[in-house]
Amino acid sequence: MLFHMPARLYFGSGEINNLRFIINEYLKADNPVLVTDKGIVQSGLLEKISAQLPGIRIFDEIEANPKSDTINTLAREVRTLDSDLIIGFGGGSPLDAGKALSLLGTNGGNIEDYEGKEKYKNAPLPFLAIPTTCGTGSEVTWVSVITDVNRKFKMSIKGPEMYPAVSIVDPDLIKTLPQSIIASTGLDALTHAVEAYLSKPATFITDHHALKAVKLILGAIEGAYDDIKHHHADRENLMFGSTIAGFAFGNSDVTAVHCISESIGALYDIPHGVANSIFLPYVLSYNLPECHKKMAVLARQAGISEVDDIKASGLFVQLIKDLSKRLGIPVFKDLKIGRDQFEKIAQMSFENNSTPSNPRELGPKDYLEILKNAYEL
Ligand SMILES: [Fe+2]
Repeated sequence: MLFHMPARLYFGSGEINNLRFIINEYLKADNPVLVTDKGIVQSGLLEKISAQLPGIRIFDEIEANPKSDTINTLAREVRTLDSDLIIGFGGGSPLDAGKALSLLGTNGGNIEDYEGKEKYKNAPLPFLAIPTTCGTGSEVTWVSVITDVNRKFKMSIKGPEMYPAVSIVDPDLIKTLPQSIIASTGLDALTHAVEAYLSKPATFITDHHALKAVKLILGAIEGAYDDIKHHHADRENLMFGSTIAGFAFGNSDVTAVHCISESIGALYDIPHGVANSIFLPYVLSYNLPECHKKMAVLARQAGISEVDDIKASGLFVQLIKDLSKRLGIPVFKDLKIGRDQFEKIAQMSFENNSTPSNPRELGPKDYLEILKNAYEL
């Protein structure tokens, strides 16, 4: 059993104020660049960085579902700047983009050349991850997910040197997060924990983190959604749950939910957390006959006291559906994806590297059934 988590993690309210100290004294970097998105710039959060690192070079071009052509263009600039540290600041997109730019900072070519595991020759530049949403987990995983714009396909680029050197997880950074982002990223984190727990590569250690994450996230998400500014404990628990869910899936895997969400994210630019939230209950229903014993453990973490495992699992699926509804998550039909696209989505989901990790075997026809069930409700 292997559990690998080499990132130095600073967790807690106000930890962001130690950024300059961490860069100067621990990372000893002189020329960092910051990777973020326009939403972060508009939010005013960037002041937390620029107050400590005046004049830092900022790339704010990262879009949702970060694209290969954006990454390749920015990589050429990173190389000319002779940077010695990449800082990713934002949700999953800037963090994954930052990891990709760290890799391309020390390796030539385009990001498409590095799809897969350890395809790089040189160790990437050190990467510092600062999440500002409660869902990505990217701050403690070795993977960067980038959309190949030519193939309309989400590539995974990973390797042991791609873990962040340092992660700063400061729950106060999500104090002003809009409700819709709390809902979608919080449910993405829940999906990470649930999928990690049910996945085939799950271990005793990943199970421990996954179960705790499920409890923390379910206990905090509605309080954070109602009033994140004043519910300090909820935003701390949500961030903590999100990070330890990252420990879990980063050392086991995700399953068919992420296979579908990565496919529709690449094809139609649907936000990752929204897609996961929509498909989680329908994939769980498909998986239930194969893993009701473990699913019942999840149900009990969620406070369901039903003793029959199959019934408890069914109640857990319903609990997630009801929660998504209360949190304003759209339904599949709202995404305006035509039924004529389902076969393509099903095939693409089947070809995702995480399909073999799903607890119940599934082929393109099974994916098609899941899509139809989610569409018809
Ligand atoms: Fe995710």
